[in-house]
This record gives sequence, structure tokens and C-alpha cells, in this order.
Amino acid sequence: MLHTKKIRKDFPILNVKVHGKNLVYLDNAATTQKPKQVIGTVKDFYEKYNANIHRSIHELGEKSTAAYEEAHKKVADFINTDFEEIIFTKGTTESLNLLAYSLSDKIKPGDEIVLTQMEHHSNLVPWQQIAIKNKAKLKFIEIDKNGLLKKESIKKNITKKTKIVSVTHISNVLGTVNDVDEICRIAHENDALFIVDAAQSIQHIPVDVKKINCDFLAFSGHKMLGPTGIGVLYGKKELLQNLNPFNYGGEMIKEVTFENSKWNDLPWKFEAGTPNIAGGIGLGAAIDYINKVGMKNIMAHDKILTEYAIETLSKIKEVEIYGPKAEKRTSVIAFNVKGVHAHDTASILDTEGVAVRAGHHCAMPLSNILGITSSARASFYLYNTKQEIDKLAEGIKKVIKVFG
Ligand code: ALA
Repeated sequence: MLHTKKIRKDFPILNVKVHGKNLVYLDNAATTQKPKQVIGTVKDFYEKYNANIHRSIHELGEKSTAAYEEAHKKVADFINTDFEEIIFTKGTTESLNLLAYSLSDKIKPGDEIVLTQMEHHSNLVPWQQIAIKNKAKLKFIEIDKNGLLKKESIKKNITKKTKIVSVTHISNVLGTVNDVDEICRIAHENDALFIVDAAQSIQHIPVDVKKINCDFLAFSGHKMLGPTGIGVLYGKKELLQNLNPFNYGGEMIKEVTFENSKWNDLPWKFEAGTPNIAGGIGLGAAIDYINKVGMKNIMAHDKILTEYAIETLSKIKEVEIYGPKAEKRTSVIAFNVKGVHAHDTASILDTEGVAVRAGHHCAMPLSNILGITSSARASFYLYNTKQEIDKLAEGIKKVIKVFG
């Protein structure tokens, strides 16, 4: 286990009382809390060197530009790639929209785009809308009753007609860890582009874009201890060079005449206008924090908590858990208390200070497949403890008592 006592001291919000109780924050798949190192870095930027980047030849401008560029380098190292291939966006959703719009002129009527049945809306709606507009076909790799992707469905759906395969690395509902290396191999065998939605994996397991060999990969800063409003799109250099920009304006150009424009070098070609400078620098600080704790240690900690939570909740007979066994998933557990609406479960847990998410978790079609309209979801991260999972279980017993 990680030294959670020490880690928790870095997160000021964990001292907050909720309804007079100690906060038990188990909504990390929605957003993680921020350590004082990240908060301090953002505060320092605004207090000591706030200035626009790539424009101002003055001390503050030089400093903010260097810090913002350094943050791109930290992200590049974190996923084992080069600075030019890291584009800062608002988050996973914007990264995937950028891709869908920029790739849309390569999608012809009859082409196929393959997703899975476990995508959240960010990796579904942009492709769905491009498919409607371009008269392309959207196909879905099916899940089995254990919440795992069916191997035969991967092979059946990805064919020579497939132009794009876009898959979540870890499901935000089932917690399933997908074998993206293998799906990437099959996509490339069929000359399709392979995209990874790493919104739920980047904070939990080592993500190496060279090892996966994906063409693009998207994630958010706020789910990995960073600020909100900052995210990343990784793309292979030669693909980014051949892709049209999504946003036009300042910063993304090299030369402009009244008649036409030339695009800036990578990655700035895709970062039009004044970016989220504070957010970018804050994301760099979040990566420093994760590196200091060690990704392998975080992964081991998350595994212990996930196994303990599944074991603990499985002992409560009124609880139904969705998704695979502990060894095939990480850190996310969606569940229902039989006969109780998920919102009621979450409300009672909240009175005990336990914060979980309830609803469809931005993955409505998946809920339909599971045959439910909503579920409660507990999700863990590096500051959570086994004692907090015990608190969750006590809270669930209160739910059963109130509604039973
Ligand atoms: N996709 C995010 C979640 O699962 C918002 O909560």
C-alpha cells in the first residue's frame, strides 16, 4: 500500500467536513482532488509570472512561455513520446471532437467507424455525428455478460471497410481494462487509424503510446490531479502534419495574408488563441506529483483497493455489482442496492460524508445494455484507504435499513 497518511496531507480538501462527517471522496472517475503542489503551482503562476505565451518579449512572457512548453515536455515524457506530438486541449471531450472534425474529410459514404459498447458519450457522440454527416456506418464491439469485450466481436467488426477504431482504455462504468495493444494490432492490419480514450487509464496505469502503437490518444488533466479545463491530444507526428487544424486564429499560424495562411509548427498548429496557460503548467505539476509517488506504486495501491472493495461489497447480498472480476478491472465499481434508486443510494451515502456518483455516468447506451437506467459508482485513487471502503459499506447498510 502507498503511505496514504503522508499522501493525504498533500490534499487540503480531504480535511473538509460533509454534513459534519469526515469526507470520504470516492468520485475520482468524475474528477480527482488536487494536491497542494498543483494548487501552489497555479497560484505561483498568477502571483509571480502571469503573462501571455509566445508573444511578449519581456521577463514574465519568457518565463510563462518556458513553463508552458516545459509542461508539454513533461506530458510527452509521461506517455513516452516527443514534445511536438502533444497538443493541449480543454480535456478529453475537446481532444476527441478535434479529431473527429479534423478527420471528417477523410470519411466517405460507406466507410466504417468502430467503437465499443462501453464508450462514454465523449467517445461516442462526436463519431456518431460525423458518421451521420458523412453517411458512414458506426459499428460497436460487443461486451459479454462479465463486462469484457468479446474477442470474436473485435475481429468481426474491424474489417477493410474500417477507417477509424476508437476505444476506451478503461471503462468509466465497468472499470474493465481493455487490451488496446491487441485491438490496435487488428486495426492496423486493416489499415484503420487507432485512437485510445485514456480518460480513465492515464491516472491508474502506465500509458506508453509507443508500446500501444496507437495513432492518437486523448485524456484530461483534472482526472489525474491536475486543474480542470486542460487536457491532451497525442498524435503521431506524420498524421498531425497531414491533419487540418480544428480552430483557426492567432498562435496557430506562421504567416497570414488577406488571401491565405500558413500553419505554425507542431504542436502549436492545433492550439489556436491564448491557451489555458495556468492549467497547462498545473498539469505539469500534477505529472511531477504522480512521478514522485510512482505510477507502479499507484497501480498496485489501486489494485488492492479494488480487490478489497469488490470483496467487501460482494458480502452484502442486496448489492449488485456491474463489470468484471477484480483482476480484469481497476478502481471503478458501479453498483445498485436492489430495489433502491441509485440517486437515493448516493443521497444517503452523502449524509455519511461518502461522495459517489449516481446516474448513467455519461454512458447511456451502456446502461441500456446492462438493463438499468442508473447505478451508483464508487471510484478510488491514491489517497483512498481500506477504512474508507469500510465507510462505504457501512453507508450501504444504512441505505438498506432506510429503504429495506
Ligand atoms: N466521464 C466522467 C465520469 O465518468 C465525467 O464521471
